[in-house]
Formats: sequence, structure tokens, C-alpha cells
Amino acid sequence: MTEIVTTNIKSLPLVYRGKVRDSYAVGDDKLLIIATDRISAFDVILGDPIPKKGKILTALTDFWFKQLDGIVPNHLTGIDPTTVVAPDEVDQVKGRAVVAKRLKPILVECVARGYLAGSGWKEYQENGTVCGIKLPAGLKQSQKLPEPIFTPAAKAEAGHHDENVTFEQVCKLVGDDIAHKIRDYTLALYKKAADYAATKGIIISDTKFEFGLDENGTVILMDEILTPDSSRFWPADQYKVGQSEPSFDKQFVRDWLETQPWNKKAPAPKIPQDVLDKTSEKYEEALIRLTGKGVE
Ligand SMILES: Nc1ncnc2c1ncn2[C@@H]1O[C@H](COP(=O)(O)OP(=O)(O)O)[C@@H](O)[C@H]1O
Ligand SMILES: [Mg+2]
Repeated sequence: MTEIVTTNIKSLPLVYRGKVRDSYAVGDDKLLIIATDRISAFDVILGDPIPKKGKILTALTDFWFKQLDGIVPNHLTGIDPTTVVAPDEVDQVKGRAVVAKRLKPILVECVARGYLAGSGWKEYQENGTVCGIKLPAGLKQSQKLPEPIFTPAAKAEAGHHDENVTFEQVCKLVGDDIAHKIRDYTLALYKKAADYAATKGIIISDTKFEFGLDENGTVILMDEILTPDSSRFWPADQYKVGQSEPSFDKQFVRDWLETQPWNKKAPAPKIPQDVLDKTSEKYEEALIRLTGKGVE
């Protein structure tokens, strides 16, 4: 399999290169969104690709859109990506792209948390809250919360960290009506996905959704959903309260980078192939556990 770090689609106008995806305009109302094999760690895009990553993320997102159908409309058009590019560009999109409705992004990262980890654990230790939500005293790291909570973040400019905000701030940013919708959708999607994943031995600690508005102002689910890049997936059989959990994601790369003399600014050091391969295996293991199959 050939890895793709940067796509080069000449037949369509480039709209945006993100940390992982390259998006091209298809007409004026659709986007071809291609998941590359890029990986970012500590908000820096690394120079080395993770084998199969773009295809794994695409297969997993596709699976979840079907699994969670009925909660909120999503951005998929059903158009086959291989039909919107030139014949010699088909290899760049096969198995790793979607043709989506082009939406106006709502600039809130919609995070649902069922457990206390990451920035949530950090804020809880300092204030007993997560995004302003008061939690019971005495909770431990990685502990399951009494109820999943909505912990939004304001989407930052490239290269900056997203900033956790309160629900009241979201209401001010996007208006009460949209704020309530994205909160309710986020929690409903998370609960259904977490219940399903639990039957496959995976705990979804937390996850992030993105929504956009279509031309009628309808809220639509977009981007990737419930992948190791947008979520914390924990193997249920290793779960213990009071520790930092191992996860199905960039842990190998992050751990290796932590051993390097690196200031966490681009360019990142060259990553050894075995670290890249191990990371790929972890991503694919999550895909296989959840969907029953891997990628070619
Ligand atoms: N249907 C859509 N319409 C408009 N923008 C979208 C849509 N789906 C996803 N996006 C945006 O496309 C980008 C996907 O590329 P990605 O590499 O994830 O970028 P980022 O580095 O911003 O996370 C994201 O910025 C996401 O908000
Ligand atoms: Mg993204």
C-alpha cells in the first residue's frame, strides 16, 4: 500500500489542508475530503505517515455514520469519490475520501466525556469542575462520571490549542437554539456509541464532534466521528480507576517523542519505522474490534 502525506488533485480546486485531511471543492456546494496518512502529535504535523491511517479513519467514520443514523443528519452525499476526480487521481481517493455537503462550520468542538481524563482531569483537580460543570468531590483519574457531560471547546486557529469553554459561552457564540441542539446531539451520539463500543470491549472515554449549518440553517454532523484521532478509546480489560489509561491512538508516537530532545515545535524528529508500524496496528485494532474488519 502506498502511503499519502500530501494529496495532489489537479482536477479540483484545493480548499484547505488540515492536520490530517485535504479538502477540494466539488462544484460550489460539495467538498471532496481526503484523509491522508498524516499524524499530528502535540499539535505538530509529523513528517512521517502512519501506514493505512487515512483508510482506517475513513472506514471507521463511515461505520459510525451508519450505526448512529437517525440521531442527526450527516454531511455525506453518497457520491463515490472516485467519480469526481480524473482517472489518474483515483488512487489518491480510493478508500480514504468522502464527497460531503459543504457546510458552514459551527466553530465549537463538541466534546462529550463519560470519564475523567486529559484536560477534564486537569481542570477537575484544580477546581472540581470540567468546563464549569461542578462534579462530585473525590473522583479519581479515569473514573466514570455519574452521567456523560458536554464539555465544549472553542475551535482555535491552526497551531493553537482549543480552549475549553462553558455552555453559557457557547450560547453567546452561536445562539441558544444552536447551542442546545449541538449539546443534545453530542450527548445522544456519545451515549449510543459508548453503549455499542462497550459490547466490543472498548471504553469510549470521550469524543469530539463537529457540526455545520446547511443552506437552510439545519444543523448537520460533519468531519470524522468516533475515531482514535477524535476520541479516547480504552481497552476495557485493562481499565482501572486511578491511573492514566493506555489507549488505541498516538500513544506510541507521543511516548517516543517524549524521549527525544525536541521543543514540540515543527519540524518534528524523524520517527522510527517500528513506532509508525505499532501506531498503525493500534489504529487498525480499534477498527477491527469495533467493525469486525480491517482495511486492505
Ligand atoms: N462537510 C464539511 N463542510 C465544511 N467543512 C468541513 C466538513 N467536514 C469537515 N470539515 C472541516 O474540514 C477539516 C478536516 O480536516 P482536518 O485535517 O481534520 O482539519 P483540522 O486540522 O482543522 O482538524 C476540518 O477543519 C473540519 O472542520
Ligand atoms: Mg480535524
